[in-house]
Amino acid sequence: MTKRSRPAPRAKPSRPRSTPPVAPAGGTTPPSIGEIPIPGASKGHPAIGVGLWALGRWGPEDEARTKATIARAYEHGFRWYDTAEVYGGGRSERLLGEVLERAAGGAPDAYVVTKVSWEHLRPAQVRASLVNSLERLGRASVDLYLVHGPDPHADLAATLGALEALWKEGKVGAIGVSNFSVEELEAAAKGLTEARIAVNQVRYNLLDRDDADPVREYCRTHQILLEAYTPLARGLLHGRYLDRRTPPSEVRQFAHRFFEPERLPELLERARRLRALAREADVPLASIALHWLAKQGAAPVVGMSQPEQVDSNLAAWAVRPPDDVLDRADAIARGDRA
Ligand SMILES: NC(=O)c1ccc[n+]([C@@H]2O[C@H](COP(=O)([O-])OP(=O)(O)OC[C@H]3O[C@@H](n4cnc5c(N)ncnc54)[C@H](OP(=O)(O)O)[C@@H]3O)[C@@H](O)[C@H]2O)c1
Repeated sequence: MTKRSRPAPRAKPSRPRSTPPVAPAGGTTPPSIGEIPIPGASKGHPAIGVGLWALGRWGPEDEARTKATIARAYEHGFRWYDTAEVYGGGRSERLLGEVLERAAGGAPDAYVVTKVSWEHLRPAQVRASLVNSLERLGRASVDLYLVHGPDPHADLAATLGALEALWKEGKVGAIGVSNFSVEELEAAAKGLTEARIAVNQVRYNLLDRDDADPVREYCRTHQILLEAYTPLARGLLHGRYLDRRTPPSEVRQFAHRFFEPERLPELLERARRLRALAREADVPLASIALHWLAKQGAAPVVGMSQPEQVDSNLAAWAVRPPDDVLDRADAIARGDRA
């Protein structure tokens, strides 16, 4: 990143002061969170983050709760916030911007990640999408800008070329993609001359892993960080739903992949065995789920919808289970019976 200009000064956001103040920031990413260096980027990537897809999931009447969740996350040391222009039609970005604006200095230590929709991959659209996202976020730049997903009809090299132009202007600190296959990663990289693909955000958790997945191997070889979304299997790997016969319909709707009728009994059985392992090791089940991902070199981005979930997930992250426990969890989740 030698030739790029520095990001412009923060834009002066103008929005109503309806959000409660957020406690002062503690400086850089707290040691309890940890950082992963990104080659060529000036800012380290926090090892665990807060996913804000859910902020588009509820109606405006839930805004106070979702703002309180972000505020709690920031106060307690979470710095990485994952959002997207499609989440809630921009509402997720707007709420994040409103909360961060109230933090000390506008939260310069936040690590803000947003995404351009798969419907906006033509170069001019990419630029317009980022401009709109920055406006909603009330920031002059984001730390990481991702292509939310590939469009088979788009020229991915041209799309990434547009991202690189924004990177050179300092409007984005690093560039990445999401849900890309090896072929799409290779096609996209052809559009870059100085920047590199820093991140591929993919669905990845103990119960949803293909151990022969070539994408992970490709990313490891090319030093592309895997951001793992749905790391808790929508709460299942936090121990939710394990004592019920059937998960609630809302969860089935959003997590149909986990709760397909034919897969559900086996997944619940594996999750219950993981919970038994966690109890035996005297660690939270979520500690196993999150640190198993970290052991694979991935950075989990956890969806949180309530302030209490922030506390509980931070507490889970603070406990690093021993390697032998993570190895046993790996075998259980794979379906080994031994
Ligand atoms: N790039 C992509 O295409 C893509 C796709 C999906 C997700 N993502 C990103 O990844 C983030 C996380 O993924 P996700 O939300 O699908 O899955 P997740 O992190 O596995 O699950 C999040 C859900 O688990 C429950 N949960 C979280 N912490 C909990 C706790 N401490 N105790 C009990 N339940 C807890 C909450 O459910 P309730 O809200 O029901 O309480 C929460 O909404 C998203 O927010 C988004 O930023 C990206």
